[in-house]
Amino acid sequence: MQTIFRGRHFINLEDFTKEEVDTMLEVSLDLKKKFAMGTPTPYLLHQSMFLMFFEQSTRTRNSMEAGFAQLGGHAGFLDSSSMQIAHGESAKDTAIILSRFGHAIACRYCNWGYGNKYLTEMAKWSTKPIMNLQCDLYHPFQALADLMTMKEKIGDLKRVKVSIIWAYAESHKKPISVPVSQVLLFPRYGMDVVLAHPKGWELPDWVIAQAKANAEKYGGSVTVTDNEAEAYEGAHIVIPKNWGNWVTDQTGVAASGAVAVVDDKLKAQKSWKCTEAKMATADKNVLYMHALPADRNNEVEDSVIDGPHSVVYDEAENRLHTAKGVMTLLMGGR
Ligand code: CP
Repeated sequence: MQTIFRGRHFINLEDFTKEEVDTMLEVSLDLKKKFAMGTPTPYLLHQSMFLMFFEQSTRTRNSMEAGFAQLGGHAGFLDSSSMQIAHGESAKDTAIILSRFGHAIACRYCNWGYGNKYLTEMAKWSTKPIMNLQCDLYHPFQALADLMTMKEKIGDLKRVKVSIIWAYAESHKKPISVPVSQVLLFPRYGMDVVLAHPKGWELPDWVIAQAKANAEKYGGSVTVTDNEAEAYEGAHIVIPKNWGNWVTDQTGVAASGAVAVVDDKLKAQKSWKCTEAKMATADKNVLYMHALPADRNNEVEDSVIDGPHSVVYDEAENRLHTAKGVMTLLMGGR
């Protein structure tokens, strides 16, 4: 177990060793047990933090806000559109001021080409931990909660086949940060990761190269395919979820924003939906996971997400426990 976390930034799980990620999971599990037993956990008493959001959120905002209150602190929600950021105040000035006012700053900024750079700039100037609540590249809190859920349900993850599968959606252009974080993290636990998507929805080459290097180091594997059936076949875990086409979106408007959500290119991929028939080709105990929000009846049939293989609510609940684990280590550890 590693114990040196205090004051560090939490932007990408790749910045932490596997042993450190294991510690995050152990602390999260301990906090989960205490939550279930009603045992107080006042590890961050009288601390304050700031939660800055450039985009909407249900799980991330509330897991941080409720989680921090349960640790004895107070989290202030900041809508970036009502901050002086809207008048052009820099990441540097914002980070310096807020870090003087409190004990941590957490931020969601998914705009393609901007989000990660903004967080990195804040981390350069903040005297307190910066936590990534999802940027254009990474969603570390989500990937950590996913990993915790898998370990709870399956135990040892070595050689477990997990398929991260692109799915059709019309609700909004979802960032690539969830599949990127998952494809980087899961091979570190020796899993056989299959990444399946139609042509045109590739993840960046450097992500695949890093994921394969992780697999090489930890004894897993990474396979990239445009064959959806191959991804479902015999899978122990499936994660069918939409992500935007960053390759074309990066030329103009943000991947999370203003271009039309549904176009002819997207509509041609409507068959990439998680159905009961596809689930029947997976392992008989297959787990269905989704970070949520799900675009029901586009990404997935109701009978799957509401069915016996789905663990989406346990997965969402673990966002609370992992958020508390990470905040405790970064803000309360030695
Ligand atoms: N999964 C996730 O990050 O959910 P929110 O967008 O609701 O925070």
